[in-house]
Amino acid sequence: MFTPEMLESLKKVEANRSANIALEPRRMTAEEKDALLAQFHPDYKTESFEALKVGPNKGDKVPHELAALLQGNSRVLDLDLDLNAPDYDVDVLVIGGGGAGASAAIEADEAGAKVMIATKLRLGDANTMMAEGGIQAADKPNDSPAIHYLDAMGGGHYANVPELLRKLVMDAPGAIQWLNQLGVEFDKAPDGTMITTHGGGTSRKRMHAAADYSGAEIMRTLRDEVLNRGIPVVDFTSAIELILDDEGKAAGAVLLNMETGEHLIARAKTVIIATGGAGRLHYQGFPTSNHYGATADGLILGYRAGAQLLYADTLQYHPTGAAYPEQIFGALVTEKVRSMGAKLINKDGQAFMHPLETRDVAAASIIRECKERGEGVSTGEGEGVWLDTPMIDQIHGEGTLEKRLPGMLRMYSKYDIDIRKVPIVVYPTLHYQNGGLKITPDGMTAVSGLFVAGEAVGGIHGRNRLMGNSLLDVIVFGRNAGQHAAAHAKTVKLGAPTLQHVEKFAKELADAGIDTHTASPQLLPDYRNHKK
Ligand code: FUM
Repeated sequence: MFTPEMLESLKKVEANRSANIALEPRRMTAEEKDALLAQFHPDYKTESFEALKVGPNKGDKVPHELAALLQGNSRVLDLDLDLNAPDYDVDVLVIGGGGAGASAAIEADEAGAKVMIATKLRLGDANTMMAEGGIQAADKPNDSPAIHYLDAMGGGHYANVPELLRKLVMDAPGAIQWLNQLGVEFDKAPDGTMITTHGGGTSRKRMHAAADYSGAEIMRTLRDEVLNRGIPVVDFTSAIELILDDEGKAAGAVLLNMETGEHLIARAKTVIIATGGAGRLHYQGFPTSNHYGATADGLILGYRAGAQLLYADTLQYHPTGAAYPEQIFGALVTEKVRSMGAKLINKDGQAFMHPLETRDVAAASIIRECKERGEGVSTGEGEGVWLDTPMIDQIHGEGTLEKRLPGMLRMYSKYDIDIRKVPIVVYPTLHYQNGGLKITPDGMTAVSGLFVAGEAVGGIHGRNRLMGNSLLDVIVFGRNAGQHAAAHAKTVKLGAPTLQHVEKFAKELADAGIDTHTASPQLLPDYRNHKK
């Protein structure tokens, strides 16, 4: 199954395995990290970004692919819509059916609001579902939210919005309890205490997991709770534009039934954008670990309505995307593999970095190994470095990998690769949108009544998120948005619904000389002209 070159390299990996297990590669200094990132991290490739010409972030740089959508044409401009004849009329409209949307809907419902979820695919088709390694919370005696805060601040290059990060870490232990009570089957020791592990950049073991399908287990539980509560879920239905009232307050959304093409009007006293990430935009041609619907839709809707973006120029490339076999190119190989002791090894069998550097540093280090040092392993289709998975059973005893990483074992076994016996080849994959819409700690944007939660938010994680802080923010800020939106809905008095902001934005585009055929939001990835 492996190419002759891979087999040759494999001999060196196997010969050095015991020595590499014993080796404790040193951590890089801050100066070394800065130099490495500047040269090899995709966020620093200036030619891949452009300045926005219109909107609240005019002048700020974002990836070309995102700029094209932010400055694209609305899908509603030529439609004949009667905004005064809504198909749905609710207190809280949640756009997005992932972990943040579900958490928001549950809390809004709990607060007595009339809530509905509109989701482009199905409830649970989301990056939450794809999350593997775990969720952070400082709930052990040797840990504290303050230490969690410092770890995340350091990992985020001190760019995290302090009030948002404070909320994330302070509410984390409560989020775990909430999920536990809802029925999430976290890994526990025989005495019932939660098993926790390290992630990259964590100074304490605070990663709570359900084997290596933590996100699926969390999403399963949230989905059950949404359905058990009878919260209406309108699936296969995208939000294609927000509706504002004549004072500029959020007042609902225009929805598109993806199956019938029918347009529907949802009137709402408050709106929560929980549309997730952007991996399917394949920035800089990277593969992605993201679900099929991750096309940055919420950023487009919010931006056109007047909400600001924060750090939209920073993306996360997960260091260990599958680079072989081709069928799973870009799929997530959870960081938990490294947290359980597997090291990154180059073509010559050398462990070239500490396995738990933060993600941006780890990704840049792998890219350097391949592109500059010529130490990448060629797979025939591309290249990568080894992730020496057999180390796990060698360190912790036979059966450990099967018990703690069953999803990984299964994913590779489909291709006759037994990761207990042979290492795997990995290369960075587009994983997470560090930036997004700017919110205050109550989850609201500058547009009154417009809330955001989950991956569509910018600022919580600064310029680089740590593992396990996304599942956490989905829960913490999802719940938070649901609670605040429900409270806001009680006081708000909406005026006449309008789409004037869309017309105004179209005029700004014309005034800026932008003549585009791009319809946005994109809604689904387009692979028709995809070249390998
Ligand atoms: O590596 C992982 O399991 C991914 C986790 C995350 O992005 O938080």
